[in-house]
Amino acid sequence: MAIGTSLSHVFPLGSRLNERGHVEVGGCDTIELARELGTPAYVIAEDDLRARARAFVQAGRDGGHEDFHVVFASKAFPCTAVLELFAQEGLWCDVASGGELHLALNAGFPPERILVHGNAKSVSELEMALAAKVALIVLDNFDEIERLSDLVSGNRSQGVLIRATPDVRGDTHEKISTGQADSKFGFSMADVPAAIERVRAVEGLVLEGIHAHIGSQIMELDPFRRVAPALRAFGDFPVWDLGGGLGVAYTAEQTPPEIEDWVGAVLGAARDSGIDASARLLVEPGRALTANAGVTLYTVESVKRNVRTWVGVDGGMSDNMRPMLYGALYEAHVADRFGGDTPCVVAGKHCESGDVIVREALLDDPRAGDVIVTPATGAYGYAMASNYNGVLRPPVIFCKDGDARVVVRRERFEDLTVRDVR
Ligand code: LLP
Repeated sequence: MAIGTSLSHVFPLGSRLNERGHVEVGGCDTIELARELGTPAYVIAEDDLRARARAFVQAGRDGGHEDFHVVFASKAFPCTAVLELFAQEGLWCDVASGGELHLALNAGFPPERILVHGNAKSVSELEMALAAKVALIVLDNFDEIERLSDLVSGNRSQGVLIRATPDVRGDTHEKISTGQADSKFGFSMADVPAAIERVRAVEGLVLEGIHAHIGSQIMELDPFRRVAPALRAFGDFPVWDLGGGLGVAYTAEQTPPEIEDWVGAVLGAARDSGIDASARLLVEPGRALTANAGVTLYTVESVKRNVRTWVGVDGGMSDNMRPMLYGALYEAHVADRFGGDTPCVVAGKHCESGDVIVREALLDDPRAGDVIVTPATGAYGYAMASNYNGVLRPPVIFCKDGDARVVVRRERFEDLTVRDVR
């Protein structure tokens, strides 16, 4: 590929091959980043995160809905720098545990822009949410309604949404599908009226509206269009949260809907189903805000040729569980020899055969010492990272206009024993 060429939509916006033929992200040469800051590393183009946040917000404005807010599903990339950036951009934030609530508050998210999710919230998580005065607690089940009603005193008014399971299925991996009737999340359509009645009877709870999230990494618009009409059947409410789930491209052939089209479809369906133009509409993207903003850099430690060519890198399932959990496909490239035609398996360093990052990569004759870049790792990689095999978790590096800033440092061996009690 020619020098100066922009890279595909899988890479962060503005990525290109620089004059030296090296992959450049956020204006930073990935070979230099690897040399100076080490590998593995999550490299994030800060401008890309901002651009996607703005695209969601702008699409809402273009859709003409006044009271529209973009809620960052923080589970996609729950690190302080990312949360701070989205807080600055004016987004809201959803959290799915006490820990995520702690992270969001710590990063400066105003509680009046925080939603609390979860299908098994504990008393202490509910207490924490009440104490923080979060905007909305999203109620998932009858036990939770009773639990929360015991905690709110009559003179408080905690806003809540009821999470419905609209029996809408998108075409995605079963492990990340949530909208089907047989789901662990939310109230079944049949139970929603009783939930509404019960919540309305609790002094101290204010039923603001209904929530649904049908699943994640969904590549067509149609399932999303079916959500608002399904929920609208429950009546009129001041708030509707229509969830996240917009898919992203992990490889260049994949072409998910554009952010603008997705927001347009969701808002259009809300309007068509008779949701009031003055209602507050929320959407909760996670992946579509962060996945393509990031790449992971690895160093090749070994190349082995048997039936196939095995490229062993210095990370793996401890920094990206997605290929193992969902069979997710990724691309890989040698950072200073983009493209190539040697079929390779890019394998991690963990003691399992399943620890394969990319099963079918085409690389340019890889050798030990090469830097490998895997794009589209900005969502659910850092979030689901582990210390399996005592492997240290990578740093997060924000790049912008050629400047690199470490926003999460690399783990050290001491971090592996900080919780040990002897
Ligand atoms: N809202 C709720 C209530 C959710 O449960 C989720 C994701 C989202 C919003 C954001 O969905 P997104 O826009 O990111 O698709 N670890 C899996 C993804 C799990 C998603 C869980 N919930 C993966 O790596 O694919």
